[in-house]
Amino acid sequence: MRRLFELAATALIIIATGLFAAYAWAEDAPAGNAENGKRIFIADGCFMCHGRAGEGGAFNYPAPALAQIELPVESFQAFLREPPNDMPAYSTAVLSDQEAADIHAFLRSLPGRRPVKDIPLLNQP
Ligand code: HEC
Repeated sequence: MRRLFELAATALIIIATGLFAAYAWAEDAPAGNAENGKRIFIADGCFMCHGRAGEGGAFNYPAPALAQIELPVESFQAFLREPPNDMPAYSTAVLSDQEAADIHAFLRSLPGRRPVKDIPLLNQP
């Protein structure tokens, strides 16, 4: 009986360790380098339509803001390969998955819009 208990406890510890490792790995998966992402965002011209701070801009119609992007990195990469409308496509030949992940990290690091109350010019009597 005691032996069975020891065996069950060992099994539990092994499972818990495995789950923790899987969790830690999933957290690390989309590791992008924001600094390099910023460089590519400028060099590849994303900023021309989406703004230097990812604030959005204009193309044939409004180009969406990208700061604080919520698209998961996999969907972000898929979008770049085959944008449905007027945005130019970026194949893996011109933008690798790693470079796309770097841009994604850069966009996540941008502060995004500030609330109106924090902009003094818009709060004058
Ligand atoms: C010539 C203008 C232009 C350039 C350059 C451009 N985009 Fe876009 N982008 C757009 C437009 C317009 C849309 C709106 C959706 C569409 O038309 O497909 C868009 C949509 C997106 C979206 C989807 C956002 C959402 O909320 O749905 C992402 C992500 C994106 N662009 C990333 C990028 C990245 C990264 C680059 C550079 C590698 C880039 N874009 C370069 C015009 C541009």
